[in-house]
Amino acid sequence: MTSAFGPGKVILLGEHAVVYGAQAIAGALERGVTAEARPAARCSLDMPEGLSASVRKQLRCAFDAAADATGRPSVQVRLTSDLPISMGLGSSAALSVAVSRVLMEAAGARPTPRRLGEVAYAMERCFHGTPSGLDHACSLAAGLISYRKAPEKAQGRVSRLSSPVPLQLAVLLVGTRRPARATISALRERKERWPERYARTLREIGRISGEGRRAVLEGDLEGLGDAMNVNHGLLCALGLSSAALDGAVHGLRQAGALGAKLTGAGGDGGAIIGLFDSRRKADNAVAASGLPGFTSTLEDRGRTRREEIES
Ligand code: PMV
Repeated sequence: MTSAFGPGKVILLGEHAVVYGAQAIAGALERGVTAEARPAARCSLDMPEGLSASVRKQLRCAFDAAADATGRPSVQVRLTSDLPISMGLGSSAALSVAVSRVLMEAAGARPTPRRLGEVAYAMERCFHGTPSGLDHACSLAAGLISYRKAPEKAQGRVSRLSSPVPLQLAVLLVGTRRPARATISALRERKERWPERYARTLREIGRISGEGRRAVLEGDLEGLGDAMNVNHGLLCALGLSSAALDGAVHGLRQAGALGAKLTGAGGDGGAIIGLFDSRRKADNAVAASGLPGFTSTLEDRGRTRREEIES
């Protein structure tokens, strides 16, 4: 049996604006999706229970895309996940990365980052239509990245980031969310109607991402937190938040978050994140919120390696 893991992600700065060519910053969570492959008569997916008919259809489309791209190795794939689905935490990208890797390994193909990226992107298209690619780039990097893609290009540019201090996050789940596709296309319609105002605001989000990137590299948690707060305000201005999301964001700030915002497509519900300077404070904020949630240190391969060398 072989297995592969794809981490989930949070967008720290720049969701939506990234679709229009702006820079975004994202980090991999400790949680994610594991795909296990066992020898079988033919290439198949053990469909997880409890999924809606539309998610099952997307998952079947995505699995077939990966199976075709890897020559249909004779295995059955089973999925396990500790990520909430469809809440903005990159569950479909995590699944795409885990399944692409396990099928490539089962087929005896070397899972190079480039090839993995191609197969995972083909899967992501079944879930999201034409995603920016940020989610699966972050899951593939399994770390902290900045990402930028010109709207007309198929592939974006990924740079790994390393923070000198750990980024401790509280993640809260607020209500349920309509599909990201619907939120993204409603924004596109508003942008087509009032192009200058919307383009200007999306550009400003890109600038805030650039400032946040510098704050990450300098270990300036207060600067990063402030960039997250301003980014949330701009997402509200674009009509991408809700009273419930805003209430939870304010709750995290009152609980001591250095910055808090919605993460992912937003809309009527979804995940929000708060940045803390200690895991204990993040844990306390989740417990005090009364909402479902969890904490995670954002994976930072650069820092992990430095700590290994120094210890
Ligand atoms: O909510 P999610 O995890 O599907 O993230 C969507 C992020 C967007 O920037 C809104 C879309 C994209 O393709 O990048």
